[in-house]
Amino acid sequence: MRKIDVPKIPSSEITPEQVYLNRRQFIKLAAVGAAGSLLAACGVKTTSQGENTPTDISERPRDELGDPANSFEEITNYNNYYEFTMVKEGVASLAKNFPTSPWQVEVGGLVHKPRIFDMDDLRRFPQEERVYRLRCVEGWSMVIPWLGFPLSLLLKEVEPMTSAAFVKFTTIVDRENMPGVKSPFYPWPYTEGLRLDEAYHDLTLLVTGLYGKDLLPQNGAPLRLAVPWKYGFKSSKAIVKIELTESTPPTFWNIVAPNEYGFYANVNPQVPHPRWSQATERRIGENRRRETLLFNGYAEQVGQLYANMDLRVNY
Ligand code: MTE
Repeated sequence: MRKIDVPKIPSSEITPEQVYLNRRQFIKLAAVGAAGSLLAACGVKTTSQGENTPTDISERPRDELGDPANSFEEITNYNNYYEFTMVKEGVASLAKNFPTSPWQVEVGGLVHKPRIFDMDDLRRFPQEERVYRLRCVEGWSMVIPWLGFPLSLLLKEVEPMTSAAFVKFTTIVDRENMPGVKSPFYPWPYTEGLRLDEAYHDLTLLVTGLYGKDLLPQNGAPLRLAVPWKYGFKSSKAIVKIELTESTPPTFWNIVAPNEYGFYANVNPQVPHPRWSQATERRIGENRRRETLLFNGYAEQVGQLYANMDLRVNY
């Protein structure tokens, strides 16, 4: 990503995540001593935030293709969240004290019953676990056990007008607590959008947690989107506004680099990014590259939505 000319961070300052995770593991084990090592060997987390999440791969939930979820440690320490920093390994510490309560989400635009929801309202929707693949446009992926509810349930409450055709999502801009938004190179706030039928699709999830716990700030607390058949940048974090619109909403990455990041952003191994192939990906925690699947492996569920579209044109 990061298409525009921003000061470059020397690659020597970016630790490959495997090295980083090994180092974290080492520091953790050294800190907790022999008892801690034993616990870790038994597959039990010893950190406060990830308590009771399985480190042992055999105990983790699996996606419908049989692949295990990434560890809590991986999911919460390798993040894209430009409002904080462009350095994936740096998001967690910068976002640590980001205030996520109280929080309100304004749902309006072309709806009959506009409404402001607070998080208690949103947690009243039936929460379910969905183990989804997340494929970043940059060529890495994870499997994440999200907790949330279909966006369609929220949309039905506000009764979209017949003129509504798209849904726009807007992320918070908190100048005091998000150092990245000081960058004048980016068109804050982070905005994203979906076609209304995509937004209504059962796979489209409003996420409040992962591994059975409330989201941490680095993953988009208190409310984010998960649209598993699209590149990860479609899944906005820290949503404060949801608007129904008549025409295609402008979106953050499309404004930054329109020829590189389209509105649709469906995962597609046959449509390369102008600067790299999308045919393969690296699952975080693995060294080999995997084949990328059409619609990230969800073609059976969502292929119909694009039946009459040229996916090379509508990238
Ligand atoms: N949402 C906001 N507000 N800001 C961002 O920078 N990055 C996106 C998406 N949502 C981003 C965002 C990208 S590029 C990806 S791959 C996913 O968040 C990463 O989600 P994760 O850090 O929970 O894995």
